[in-house]
Formats: sequence, C-alpha cells, structure tokens
Amino acid sequence: MQESAQTLNVGLIGYGMIGKVHAFGYATLPFYAPDLPVVGKVVAVATSRPESAANAQRALQCEIATTDYREIIDNPKIDVVHICAPNADHLPAALAAIEAGKHVYCEKPIVVDAQEAQILEDAISKPGVPERVRRVAFHLRGFVALRRAKEIIAEGRLGRIRQYRLGYYHSSSLDPSAPFRWKHDKSGGVILDLGSHIVDLLDFLVGLPNELVAQTTKAFPTRPLKTADSTVVQKPTLVEDYVSILTRGTLGANDDPCDVVGVLEATKLANGAEDELSVEISGERGAIRFSLMDSHYLDFFSLDATPVGWLRIPCGGRYDYPESQFPSPKSTTGWTRAHVASLASFYAAIAQQTCAVGTERDAHYRDYGADFAQALRVQRALEIVKRSALERRWERVTL
Ligand SMILES: NC(=O)c1ccc[n+]([C@@H]2O[C@H](COP(=O)([O-])OP(=O)(O)OC[C@H]3O[C@@H](n4cnc5c(N)ncnc54)[C@H](O)[C@@H]3O)[C@@H](O)[C@H]2O)c1
Repeated sequence: MQESAQTLNVGLIGYGMIGKVHAFGYATLPFYAPDLPVVGKVVAVATSRPESAANAQRALQCEIATTDYREIIDNPKIDVVHICAPNADHLPAALAAIEAGKHVYCEKPIVVDAQEAQILEDAISKPGVPERVRRVAFHLRGFVALRRAKEIIAEGRLGRIRQYRLGYYHSSSLDPSAPFRWKHDKSGGVILDLGSHIVDLLDFLVGLPNELVAQTTKAFPTRPLKTADSTVVQKPTLVEDYVSILTRGTLGANDDPCDVVGVLEATKLANGAEDELSVEISGERGAIRFSLMDSHYLDFFSLDATPVGWLRIPCGGRYDYPESQFPSPKSTTGWTRAHVASLASFYAAIAQQTCAVGTERDAHYRDYGADFAQALRVQRALEIVKRSALERRWERVTL
C-alpha cells in the first residue's frame, strides 16, 4: 500500500457466499496491488439476521453490524457500498446508495428485469446526481487469459469472426432434495445468474449479436422448504435452471455484415460440472479457447503461425499488475484472483475520479471493469432472451 494512500470506508451489504469473496478482495488487495493511491477498509456489514450480522462482524473485525442496510447507506462516514445481497435487493440498495453519493460495487445481475433497469437508468441520469464510480462485479473480465483473448481478437488475429460458443456449466439444480432458496424465486434463475456472466463476456470479447432465439427448462416444479414451525412444504420453483441461446448477425467486432453464428448455454443441470465456463471463438484466420477449470491458459490457433497448430499460452504473467505482483508472475491464476483484479480496477477508477491520478497502471485497470451502463445493457439483452424463450421465437437484439 502506498504510504500516502487515501483510505475509504466500506460497507458490505450481504455477507453470504460472495460477500466473503469481496471481503477477501480487501484483505488481499494490498498484496496484489500495493501502489493503488486509494484503498478501502471494511468498516460495516449488513446481513438479514442479527446472528449472521454478529458473525460477520467478528470475522471482519469491523465497527458496524446491522440488519438494516440503510444504516450503512445513510452513514456519512461510509464512502463505498458493496451490494452482495440477493438479486431482489439490488435495486433498492443501489438507488439509495446513488442518492447518498456513494461509490457502488454491485453484484451481478445488476437488477432483475427491464422495469427495474429503467428505474435505475433514470436514477443514474437524473440531473444533479453526484458523479461516483459505479461498477458491477462481472469478474470474468478479471481473468488474464480472457483479457489476452480480447487483445488477440482486437488485433484482428482471428480474422473475420464466424462462430462462437460460450457455455457456463453447473450441476447444482440436479438434486431434487436441495431446498428452495431465493435463486429459485422469480428474481433468480440461471439466465440472471450465469447467463448474465456469459452475455457480458460475449459483449466484452466480440460484441452482442443482432438476433437470438432461446429455450429454457427447469429441473423440478417444486422444492422443499422448511417453514417457521419446522414442517416441510413443497414450494413452486419459478425460474429456469437451463437456457440455450442461438444467435446470429453482425457482432460489434466486425465492420462488415457477415453472418456470425453462435451458441450460448447456461445451465445448472450439467452433471459432474463444478464451475465450468468454456469459451470458443473462431474466425477465418484463427481461433481461441478458454476453460475456467484451466484458467491459467489461453489456447490460440492461427493459420498465420508456423507451424500451424494450437498454441497454449500461459497468461499468468501477461500483465505485471495486479495479476502477477503476488506471489509471482509464474504462479497460477484462479477464481478469487479474478475477483481481486476486478476490485482493483474499481479502486483505480475511484482514484482517477477522486484524486485525478492517472498513472499508466490505473488506465490499465480501468479498461476492463463493467460500469452500470454496461450492466444495464446486459440486463436488456437478458430480457430479450427471456422473452424469446417465453414466446418461442427469434427476437431482434435492440438495446
Ligand atoms: N460474481 C460472482 O462470481 C457471484 C458469485 C455468486 C453470487 N453472486 C451474486 O451475489 C449476490 C449474492 O449471492 P450469494 O450467493 O452470496 O447469496 P447468499 O444467499 O449466499 O448470501 C446473501 C447474503 O445477503 C444477506 N441479505 C439478504 N437480504 C438482505 C437484506 N435485505 N439486507 C442485507 N443483507 C441481506 C444474507 O444475510 C446473506 O448474508 C447475488 O446477486 C448473486 O448473483 C455473484
């Protein structure tokens, strides 16, 4: 950490699976990104129950624990708010944080539907709203290999892109005894949960398609839910566990209107899968492949290379900062490290805005974060996916 670094006070809203990952980001950021001019310190946490708030406070050693997240947002000493609560809580928390002039780092999906997206869009563009950094944790952009893929594509080394396949595979919906939770309710579902990641990633790498058609299915119509008096009832599941999307049309990366075709798939029905993201993009001169289970590497094929064939590129040390500062450039990269890189990008953007420091490294960080406008664009694309699946027809992607 820079000796002169400015420290911002941070409040976490939600301390479940991902809230802990965000806290891990703060604990390790000084190792990965030691010369950020602005850093954060977690001083407050909100959860839904007093016991979990007290546990979170003990783990984080922070001053404030609450079950009312407004206490965090209304606290003038808190500069940065992380929204790590279930999807349905994102909009009210984001609106309040924007109004209170906080920097916001929100989990994906930014909101749950088009109506909420419009409300948030209006709130951001309202005259007089303080200018703050607002990012969404599309942390896949933090993987070095995926940023290397973006560079290779932007350099034109794949030639004209002709097809792609992005899939995100989990197995967690296959067990019928797994209890009903918020992810099975109407603000959950695999389109918002995993689909948001791959749609953003597609946009990041090559742009969005012109048209799509989607189909969905759910694993089970109901799931068991324990009620307050400990009886178990079967509660209807309201959302899909699987979506596949066929796409066609010009991508942002291509100037000419060649017909690019693609398949996106997000599922929690893939038996044996853990957290398996796979990316394949193929053009007339080359192709790239990436697997999250093998995230240190990018596979690159080029007709222009000698000899022609697949090249496995170790990407860990591709950028010196923050990815390979710690422990060393040759150490493997991984899931949490991508989250830390995403957080580092958020802080570099805050530094740029609040202290007007713009080192070359800060610029590098800022390049790959997803702001609220990007997350709202993804949200609109996801609405089109839902509509297509519901109405069983091709839809134009107009955003
Ligand atoms: N980017 C990623 O890699 C990633 C991974 C997992 C989850 N997520 C996202 O993170 C969010 C949370 O998911 P999770 O898996 O951590 O959920 P979770 O159920 O494990 O945890 C939710 C947390 O929010 C708290 N909470 C619930 N309602 C609240 C309220 N009104 N006020 C304050 N706290 C409240 C709960 O007490 C709990 O601590 C979701 O939006 C999800 O999509 C992102």
